[in-house]
Amino acid sequence: MTGDEERERESLRLGGEARPGALRSGRDVREMFGRIVRRYDAMNRLMTGGRDIVWRRRAVRLALADAGSVEVPVLDVATGTGDLALALAAGGARFVVGVDFAAPMLRAAAAKGAKAGDGGVAWVVGDALTLPFPSGTFAACTVAFGLRNMADYEAALQEMTRVLIPGGRLVCLELTPYRRPVLGSLFAWYFSRVVPVVGGLLSGDREAYCYLPQSVAAFPPADALADLFRRAGLVDVAYRLLGGGTVALHAGTKRSTP
Ligand SMILES: C[S@@+](CC[C@H](N)C(=O)[O-])C[C@H]1O[C@@H](n2cnc3c(N)ncnc32)[C@H](O)[C@@H]1O
Repeated sequence: MTGDEERERESLRLGGEARPGALRSGRDVREMFGRIVRRYDAMNRLMTGGRDIVWRRRAVRLALADAGSVEVPVLDVATGTGDLALALAAGGARFVVGVDFAAPMLRAAAAKGAKAGDGGVAWVVGDALTLPFPSGTFAACTVAFGLRNMADYEAALQEMTRVLIPGGRLVCLELTPYRRPVLGSLFAWYFSRVVPVVGGLLSGDREAYCYLPQSVAAFPPADALADLFRRAGLVDVAYRLLGGGTVALHAGTKRSTP
């Protein structure tokens, strides 16, 4: 890595300027989620009609399908209020780590975990671009509705791949740019007109819910995201569209041999 690249990476790590292609700096994203935490879960349920719970369960099945020994920990990156980490624990993973750089989101996750009587999840404050774990630690790594908010998608995928054991699986559940002709306009209207108003009323932060459709529009379409998975060193990359084509569930496996 050159000195300039190193300085740029350091600036990203500290929440500095976003790279071209990403809409916001790490600092802006972290502060935004810190502001909307109180109504975050309610807004998710409302926007998706509760389907987000079903999608996370699918992500869990995919992540744990070949996870091998339940003794090897699994990681949920950008865990937010912890829904996917808790679903991984409920799905049979014995050791789950949820990492996020927004401390208020993690506090909500820990409170939710405590209420559910779940002692198997460790909540760690950390940046997805520089995960605070040694290489080859986790049998599976998941990220739900998190990658789109990161300042460098490719670097984040490489970092998540790094912490997987060989043969470990990376699963990403994410909103995907919607391309279907007629329903596309309806969805665009819902997302750019209805969501900001309802999100603004519920969370008190309309701006955060204006950013949401913009961040989806700027995110790579599902095929391009699959290519980024491959560039990160993952094989057997596949995806399927959910939610009528509004959400993509990607999976890839870290090569068994270097
Ligand atoms: C839309 S929420 C998703 C939360 C959760 N995964 C879910 O399924 O509801 C996005 C989360 O990503 C986190 N995030 C974004 N960029 C991050 C980064 N670089 N490192 C760690 N967390 C990040 C935010 O703090 C926020 O909690």
